[in-house]
Amino acid sequence: MCGIVGYVGKRPVLPVLLEGLRRLEYRGYDSAGVVFFDKGRLRVLKRKGRVYDLEEDIYRNSTLEPKAPGLGHTRWATHGEPNEINAHPHFDCKTTLAIVHNGIIENFYELKKELIIKGHKFISDTDTEVIAHLIEEYVKEGLNLFQAFLTALRKLKGAFAVAMITTMDPEKIYVARFQSPVVVGLGEGENFLASDIPALLPFTKKVVFLEDGEVAILSQEEVKYFDFHGRELKKTPQIITWDLASAEKGGFSHFMLKEIYEQPSALQQTLLGRLDLEKGKIDFSREGLTQEFFSGIKRIFLVACGTSYHACLVGKYLLERVIDIPIEVDLASEFRYRNPRLDNGSLFIALSQSGETADTLASLRLAKEKGARTLAICNVLGSTITRESHIVLYTQAGPEISVASTKAFTTQVLMFILLSLYLQEIYQREEPKELIKMLPRLPGLLNKVIEKLHPKIKECAKNWYGASNFLYLGRNILYPIALEGALKLKEISYIHAEGYAAGEMKHGPIALIDENFPTVILSAKELGIVHEKTLSNAEEIRARRGPIILFTTEGERKFEDKVNYIFYIPETSYAFLPILYVVPLQLLAFEIAYLKGCDIDKPRNLAKSVTVE
Ligand code: M6R
Repeated sequence: MCGIVGYVGKRPVLPVLLEGLRRLEYRGYDSAGVVFFDKGRLRVLKRKGRVYDLEEDIYRNSTLEPKAPGLGHTRWATHGEPNEINAHPHFDCKTTLAIVHNGIIENFYELKKELIIKGHKFISDTDTEVIAHLIEEYVKEGLNLFQAFLTALRKLKGAFAVAMITTMDPEKIYVARFQSPVVVGLGEGENFLASDIPALLPFTKKVVFLEDGEVAILSQEEVKYFDFHGRELKKTPQIITWDLASAEKGGFSHFMLKEIYEQPSALQQTLLGRLDLEKGKIDFSREGLTQEFFSGIKRIFLVACGTSYHACLVGKYLLERVIDIPIEVDLASEFRYRNPRLDNGSLFIALSQSGETADTLASLRLAKEKGARTLAICNVLGSTITRESHIVLYTQAGPEISVASTKAFTTQVLMFILLSLYLQEIYQREEPKELIKMLPRLPGLLNKVIEKLHPKIKECAKNWYGASNFLYLGRNILYPIALEGALKLKEISYIHAEGYAAGEMKHGPIALIDENFPTVILSAKELGIVHEKTLSNAEEIRARRGPIILFTTEGERKFEDKVNYIFYIPETSYAFLPILYVVPLQLLAFEIAYLKGCDIDKPRNLAKSVTVE
């Protein structure tokens, strides 16, 4: 996720771009850049770091005579480390056109190879630069600028919001959208564009949202809209009534809620470029992951902290179904101080949203020291854990602002699903085609679960937010989800909550049950034999008058009258259960914390990134 802004009009261009970038920094903040006209030529300024670093550079440079149109970009790196060269804007060979981009170009590698053969010179490691050279190439081949822009867009696979300014048409901004947001802001004698509304609000409230497959061309006087084939479209402006604070959160009251709702799109981003539906394969070639990396592996360690540790527990269930290699899961704070049997036959997998967690990093260093191969599943490009691991698989959740982790978790789980399918092919020599075919439907399925369950979850929260304790029970792959549901509740609502394997209930926690102690039970038909066993645990709680909130498979009607609340999850694949069950628990924790008036995005005593022991 990155942020883009654009301006065409008579105001001084740099203050408009910088104001917009500051308001989009929540979308990415490893580097920032602007491009504008200066004495008739394109002039770029970019900088590793935050927007204020860029701003300092700009105001130190007294030789500038900046003129609109101009573009700005704040980056959340996906391809190429966060440095000045990889910061946007990017250019063609002759610096006649500048591109800013948000999203991922899945086929950039193939396109780049073709363009290099045709003589194009690339200077960055980004996927974005390919767009500039592609447009340049089509112009060279004789297309007019507009047709070259459209032809390039039609060639791109993946997700993109792309904006361009060029000396070939110096009064305009070209912008296109496919699966990454673009909002056009309409003014009097001036027009704007941005990835999100907060960047526009200081200037205008009149906006047009581009849809997938649409292009806009902005000049001072007007904005024209087209599809990717150049057919003109009519678009109706809307008036935004949000204030700035709610606009930054996309209209949501809290970042956590926004991030919960972003999960379908975060999953989609994580799938991009990794699914080869034609061959029925998972493709990790761009990450440099090959069959050889796994040769001779005799033991696998999955290590992390907090929510990422729960994703490791899910990972164990998924990986154990496809490989015979023993898998150990550890809390990083324990792993680093025990004596794990690590050697060159070990594969050490570190999970971390931030890539900076002290215990996870120390465990990784220990594993490397003992000769293990290391792989990181991480969300933050260029973080210490990614720099020190042999292989990195990035979750593409985008920046997670809320301290309580939500979309980082579901994308980590998705990465384990992909890894298990990849290993299934290597170890069982069997192509897991069916599940691979289902994967593109997962984001949509999750969306439906959120939309359907959220209103009833709010109602349930109203009944139970006064409880002092909660128990969460699950078995098999839903056991780590019980742990994660309890962690979410305790960290943001400060209610004591415990996650347990349902089979352990009789070994202690059942003593706690009474009419004021609610239990959240997770079960699903896809769990086979343990599904019925979990439902028997529900009966045992009921017999002790314990209130029950049950999450189970659609159609499981026999419990309707026996529990206080029942939530149905559509029947699905076993592998998808953790994702479909955890998101309603995130919502439940959120709604309870909201009713209790807690500071949800910044819970007391907690930090987003735990960089000390
Ligand atoms: O950045 P990491 O994934 O390494 O962080 C690990 C934990 O600190 C983190 O998951 C923490 O438990 C979250 N606050 C949970 O919501």
